[in-house]
Amino acid sequence: MKREEVVVSPQQLARQREIMQEIRTHLQETLDHAPLACVDTFGCQQNVADSEHIMGMLREMGFAFTEDPHQADVVILNTCAVREHAEQRVYGNLGALTHTKKANPRQIICLCGCMAQQKQVADKVRASYRHVDLVFGPHALWRFPELLQKVYHQHGRVFSIDDSHGSIAEGLPIVREGGAKAWVSVMYGCNNFCTYCIVPYVRGRERSRDKACIVADVKSLIAEGYKEITLLGQNVNSYGKDLPEACDFADLLDELARLDGDFLLRFMTSHPKDASHKLLDTMARHEKIARHLHLPFQSGSTRILQAMNRGYSREEYLALVDYARTVMPDIVLTSDVIVGFPGETKEAFEETLSLVQQVRFDALFTFIYSPRPGTPAAKLPDPVPRAEKQQWFDALLQVQNANSAQKHAAYVGTVQRVLVDGKSGDSRWPLSARTAGGRLVHLVGDEASIGRFKTAKITDSNTWALFGELTE
Ligand code: SAH
Ligand code: SF4
Ligand code: F3S
Repeated sequence: MKREEVVVSPQQLARQREIMQEIRTHLQETLDHAPLACVDTFGCQQNVADSEHIMGMLREMGFAFTEDPHQADVVILNTCAVREHAEQRVYGNLGALTHTKKANPRQIICLCGCMAQQKQVADKVRASYRHVDLVFGPHALWRFPELLQKVYHQHGRVFSIDDSHGSIAEGLPIVREGGAKAWVSVMYGCNNFCTYCIVPYVRGRERSRDKACIVADVKSLIAEGYKEITLLGQNVNSYGKDLPEACDFADLLDELARLDGDFLLRFMTSHPKDASHKLLDTMARHEKIARHLHLPFQSGSTRILQAMNRGYSREEYLALVDYARTVMPDIVLTSDVIVGFPGETKEAFEETLSLVQQVRFDALFTFIYSPRPGTPAAKLPDPVPRAEKQQWFDALLQVQNANSAQKHAAYVGTVQRVLVDGKSGDSRWPLSARTAGGRLVHLVGDEASIGRFKTAKITDSNTWALFGELTE
């Protein structure tokens, strides 16, 4: 893929900006109230970041926002396709929107995101969800104004699920929703084709943003007072491979961590096959990079890892963890794991269990394998019954919960630097905060601290969180 084919031209983006103004005028002329939009986001941080751009575009068109779909002139579901359960939730929500549309026939309902990039989903929506007006995949995100205008003018349904490899659109409007936290995509797409995973099919090939654009974004976020900046990519360690300049993710991180200001950098996700010693050394060198590594291992069995096309063995994963802990003894390690991949036997599952016991992750995201149509693993024989997979899953969770509780208990009595990021909803510990390692802390303190780095004394803990009080 040539870079010119990937980067959306300034002329094309200028045309979208014109359309946003045309829609704004159209709405002023045709509605008797200020337009309202409801944006519902499913899935990973990448989708959250995309929704912030959708909201940015909607705001340019004159929309304000509501969480109530009954009140909205435009409802957007930004969807995730990673597991069947995620898709079922979306179909459930879509079904419920027949009522809001009945009450307000002029309401426009849009389905976008990763589900919408799949042909079979578009076909199903076309046939069975006739109240949906607009369907577009992640590749068409930057053309949202043009697509919405089509819906307004053509009085028919619009489906845009081109099979391009994806694009990079710089300078899209944005509404940031994360308080003192901001997301910055550094790359899009994935080339890894893990055999269970739908992401490469719906997000297209890997493409990196120009370093200068990323640095400029991060600088302006720091200037605006954002305290935590998370760099996003399905596999951040692939950053730069497609760029003309020689720059890898560690170089990018190093440059960003040298910027002036009081901020913390995070990133996700790191693929173990590409997480280099250089990356870990860079993290170790900079205080402004969070001492947290999310390093999904997926399985503790080398045979299953091979069947997953992960590109590393159990031993290589363990060696990487050892290196990370050697250069950063205080590193917080989190991971993802899949239970019940096709061909996983009880013995193979026990290797996963033993890896979890050996590494002792601070937190673990556990998933039962979900076949995704179109992926190679979906065609493999999968003889283990669901009930047995559930038992394995429960056993794994039990081990992890004990680990998390023990890890958290070790914080009690310590003093931690935390970013206070909002209210907890619990009257005893009204504030919610995160340590540099990303551990959740519920705090006693007043709301004036929200959005600031503070020090907190940890007084209690459980499996899921730490509890404490501000010390200043
Ligand atoms: N790019 C990231 C993760 C993307 S999806 C990475 O490579 O780590 C997030 C997690 O969902 C994955 O790490 C995996 O554990 C899980 N996952 C992906 N596809 C799945 C499937 N078909 N069934 C169950 N879990 C899945
Ligand atoms: Fe999916 Fe693997 Fe790519 Fe992650 S690295 S998005 S799990 S294909
Ligand atoms: Fe889901 Fe798409 Fe993210 S499939 S996990 S929203 S990249």
